[in-house]
Amino acid sequence: MASENSNVDTLTKLYTRKEVAKHANNKDLWLIINNKVYDVSAFSSHPGGEEVLLEQGGQDCTEAFEDIGHSSDARELMQTFKIGELVEEERTEENVFKLNKVLEGDGPSGSWRSWLIPIALGVLATLVYRYFIKAP
Ligand code: HEM
Repeated sequence: MASENSNVDTLTKLYTRKEVAKHANNKDLWLIINNKVYDVSAFSSHPGGEEVLLEQGGQDCTEAFEDIGHSSDARELMQTFKIGELVEEERTEENVFKLNKVLEGDGPSGSWRSWLIPIALGVLATLVYRYFIKAP
């Protein structure tokens, strides 16, 4: 199981970006996606073509991968190519930011909540005015 302060268990192999960068040819092709390292050397049947993978070889192609909008099938398939993860110091925080945004409610539900207090105060003020201030 994962250790207390990390989601990487002791069996996961860790690589630096420099190590991954050495694997950038069509016989030996590694990619970084979402801080994980994939060996796609044997993935000649990539539906998007071998060329695009080769172009990204040895690099972090998280953005390119996500921009295509790969399906959940593709995400499942990529697990078979996973060989490890980036060392902790070299990981990007991008996904953590995205997750925080959702958790903090920086979206439609968040702005709805921020209107709740002014509306409640408005209703309260109207009631106070109607029943206590305005003479019958
Ligand atoms: C381990 C990594 C990857 C796996 C397992 C993978 C798998 C797949 C699969 C299964 C598809 C078919 C469509 C789908 O199911 O979404 C696909 C399409 C595609 N992929 Fe990947 N892919 C990987 C990495 C990449 C990268 C790094 C790029 C490039 C930047 C890329 C570019 C594309 C493109 C351009 C298509 C075609 C989309 C279309 O025709 O609509 N893929 N990939």
